[in-house]
Amino acid sequence: MPQRVRKAVLPVAGLGTRFLPATKVIPKEMIPVIDKPVVQYAIEEARAAGIEEFIFVTADGKESIANHFSVHPVLESMLAEKKKFAELKIVQDTTLPSANLHMVKQHDPLGLGHAVWCAWQLIGDEPFAVILPDDMVLSGVPCLKQLIDAHAQVGGHVVAVENVARDQTNRYGILDVQSEDGRLAKAKGLVEKPDPAKAPSTLAIIGRYILDPIVFKELDKRTKGAGNEIQLTDALNRTIGAVPFHGLKFDGKRYDCGTRVGFIEANVAFGLAHPELVDRLRPIIERLLADTK
Ligand code: G1P
Repeated sequence: MPQRVRKAVLPVAGLGTRFLPATKVIPKEMIPVIDKPVVQYAIEEARAAGIEEFIFVTADGKESIANHFSVHPVLESMLAEKKKFAELKIVQDTTLPSANLHMVKQHDPLGLGHAVWCAWQLIGDEPFAVILPDDMVLSGVPCLKQLIDAHAQVGGHVVAVENVARDQTNRYGILDVQSEDGRLAKAKGLVEKPDPAKAPSTLAIIGRYILDPIVFKELDKRTKGAGNEIQLTDALNRTIGAVPFHGLKFDGKRYDCGTRVGFIEANVAFGLAHPELVDRLRPIIERLLADTK
């Protein structure tokens, strides 16, 4: 029986240049979808999946992410004084116990693999989750919980995958599939951002991983791959054989908040899924569509 997954790594060191000027002083992970920063959705998903410890791999200028998940005594006492108890609860629900919140600085932007490697000391020798907050998932059962449940069955590495259009394979880590069993695809290899013509499949990794700590030894070799970066996909590929690698075709819908259109799509989708907003939002969207015909 594989060890329980208790810790998650959230790489949040990126500059967010696609969202300038919004990201000039605000980390891109702090930009809200509806009324919550994108990174809070990731934390809520992880907590709902039983994750207890959170390791943010950050960079200078990202201090507001740690502040967002810490207590805010001034705001909290003001809300309590004004008897705004619902708002007080919203604020207090964002707080993570300080012993469970860790920040590690990624001094050089050497790639996703390097960002994950930065968390090695804090993870140690146990399976762990990686969450890329840019990928938001709307689902009944939290996507990370689906992965953890699958990991309890098969162990090794288990990542969330979905089929993408072939002309999009050069944006993702792609599985070379050995066999499929229901929602689980066993991989015999992985390729980071292959050209559509060379991609071994169209099954793409999205930003949710459960990883065996064996990956750290590979990341420690600091081998560079696509884009001259230390790629997580490449390190995982080199561990196939030592531990099993499965992609889980998760139940849910993923939104890529790393692009402007994906970010707008996420706002609309999460708005339409929001019980307090959907009834007012739907006619507005319909009217906007009719107006632009
Ligand atoms: C990263 C990974 C890639 C994965 C993707 C999911 O790419 O390197 O394998 O498919 O996240 O969002 P990035 O989006 O950082 O270019």
